[in-house]
Amino acid sequence: MKVKKKKLNVKHPQNQLSNMKFYSRKLIKPENLNARNTLFGGALLRWIDEEAGIYAMTKLDSKNVVTKYISEINFINSAEQGDVIEIGLGFKKVGRTSISFSCEVRNVFTKQTIIKIENIVFVLVDEDGKSKAHGKKMDDFIKLKS
Ligand SMILES: CC(C)(COP(=O)(O)OP(=O)(O)OC[C@H]1O[C@@H](n2cnc3c(N)ncnc32)[C@H](O)[C@@H]1OP(=O)(O)O)[C@@H](O)C(=O)NCCC(=O)NCCS
Repeated sequence: MKVKKKKLNVKHPQNQLSNMKFYSRKLIKPENLNARNTLFGGALLRWIDEEAGIYAMTKLDSKNVVTKYISEINFINSAEQGDVIEIGLGFKKVGRTSISFSCEVRNVFTKQTIIKIENIVFVLVDEDGKSKAHGKKMDDFIKLKS
């Protein structure tokens, strides 16, 4: 008997939540602060771009991955020196040449959300910097519960 494969509805909030994994942690240090002595937004975006880029590289098995698009960024709460934050990433879409994630950064101890980004898109490129098919599918990354 042929078993029909279930298609994952990645837009469903339940799937987005179960899909979000918190990988790296950062300690907020003096060099990460703005003039008000709270976390500098640019430092946070740099960490997110790096973390999501590494994630895209590992999922697409290549270092030739570039950031294509970052959607609206919502800075929800601030963080202070000495706080520890964690960066969460969830699969949003796996396209032909691209892979997209959603991102949430939160305070490790209070679990308060610091930032949310709906869509970060990375594209696999060839030696000439042109987009290139990666041959992956969402099912390669997310195992569905039967
Ligand atoms: C990445 C780059 C090669 C893509 O070139 P392109 O001609 O726009 O490529 P395409 O139109 O073929 O799009 C490539 C993928 O990006 C997606 N994409 C393009 N524009 C997008 C946008 N505004 N939002 C979301 N996804 C987008 C496309 O849907 C496509 O995905 P798919 O193949 O999975 O469907 C090119 O834009 C580039 O070199 N950008 C600079 C990247 C860079 O240097 N980043 C570091 C920060 S400066």
